[in-house]
Amino acid sequence: MIDDTFAFIIHPINPRRDVSRKWPIVGKVLTEGQVNFLSAYFPPVYCSQIDGVRSEANGRELKGWFIACPFTPRRMLELPVSMVYDKIVACGRMAERLGARMLGLGAYTSVVGDAGTTIARRLDMPVTTGDSYTIAIAVEAVRKAADVMGIPLTAAVVGATGAIGSVCAQMLADDVGELILVGRRTDTLNTMREKCENRRAIVRSGTTIDSIYNADLVLTVTSALEAIIHPQHLKPGAVVCDVARPRDVSKQVADLRDDVLVIEGGMVEVPGPVDFHFDFGFPPKMAFACMAETMALALEGRYEDYSVGKGLTVEQARAIAAICARHGFKLGGFRSFERAVTDEQIARVREQAQVNLRHWTPYAIAQARGDL
Ligand SMILES: NC(=O)c1ccc[n+]([C@@H]2O[C@H](COP(=O)([O-])OP(=O)(O)OC[C@H]3O[C@@H](n4cnc5c(N)ncnc54)[C@H](OP(=O)(O)O)[C@@H]3O)[C@@H](O)[C@H]2O)c1
Repeated sequence: MIDDTFAFIIHPINPRRDVSRKWPIVGKVLTEGQVNFLSAYFPPVYCSQIDGVRSEANGRELKGWFIACPFTPRRMLELPVSMVYDKIVACGRMAERLGARMLGLGAYTSVVGDAGTTIARRLDMPVTTGDSYTIAIAVEAVRKAADVMGIPLTAAVVGATGAIGSVCAQMLADDVGELILVGRRTDTLNTMREKCENRRAIVRSGTTIDSIYNADLVLTVTSALEAIIHPQHLKPGAVVCDVARPRDVSKQVADLRDDVLVIEGGMVEVPGPVDFHFDFGFPPKMAFACMAETMALALEGRYEDYSVGKGLTVEQARAIAAICARHGFKLGGFRSFERAVTDEQIARVREQAQVNLRHWTPYAIAQARGDL
């Protein structure tokens, strides 16, 4: 008999591709617009049972469930927020009926509105957005990638005024010589700068993506619906950790820039013989950090709200990282555009960066493509 249980809410990002994961024929027959339109009338969708998550600290085992909220990020922004809350709460009620004792809000269901506060108030079960462990793992991934590439000098955080980005920025300010904060609004950026000052880094800020050109490390975590980082924005040798879902980094970066390394933020190895019984695009045993936070809280027996609201803290990120490490969760290997990153690939990127740094300018690649 397993007492510790959780549920995690996922949602489609690419409507046709993601709907096909559950219903291959529906994904083939309907257009993207039709899937988006019909999603407003869909109830929550039961996806799968999750078995085999086992703590390395106390041997406790978990049972869990994936439940899909049928809205895409675009739909969540278009519809009245109260309607989106109602749907997420309906997913939570399904989780309660299944027997879940802890609920995780995946990707955009944690971004919308007040980041889980209303959802937590309306449900009888505790809720987490999973954002604190997302922060801890993103920062760890950036630090590891910097070690591998040998470039711990200048870092940039894109989306530095957001719930996740602001804490990542504060943590990276202890590590690097220069930190560039990128956001859209000068007033909130100034507040963030104050929070990051008096640490190791000299802190600068900018309101355009061009501000990241001098960065060796870029951690990007905006809630933009389309890619905002393109080939011409990156310096040769840059490492970019893309935590955003949908992604912030355009696919063209992978196609055109063999001198930068883009890694996905947030992939975590789960302890125990875990089977998700559902393909969400990761290799076996790997989960998003926000899923891992939900599982770790249940393994710890901490059935209380965590990472709810926009005001997350460095302390929360460090505390959940310690809990996750104790139960055996750890950073998964690097992945880039859904493929594992090999040592050979890293060596090639480093080599090409050395060559390109001799003659490269920010707009060289865009000009070569005829964009400028
Ligand atoms: N990988 C994972 O495990 C995981 C887990 C949780 C969340 N996420 C993802 O993380 C991202 C951020 O989540 P969050 O909770 O930090 O969101 P948030 O608090 O809403 O912050 C979003 C940030 O993005 C900025 N932004 C929004 N649209 C933009 C645009 N078009 N161009 C430039 N900047 C833009 C916002 O700027 P303003 O302040 O000007 O609005 C803000 O700084 C989302 O994509 C979410 O899906 C990933």
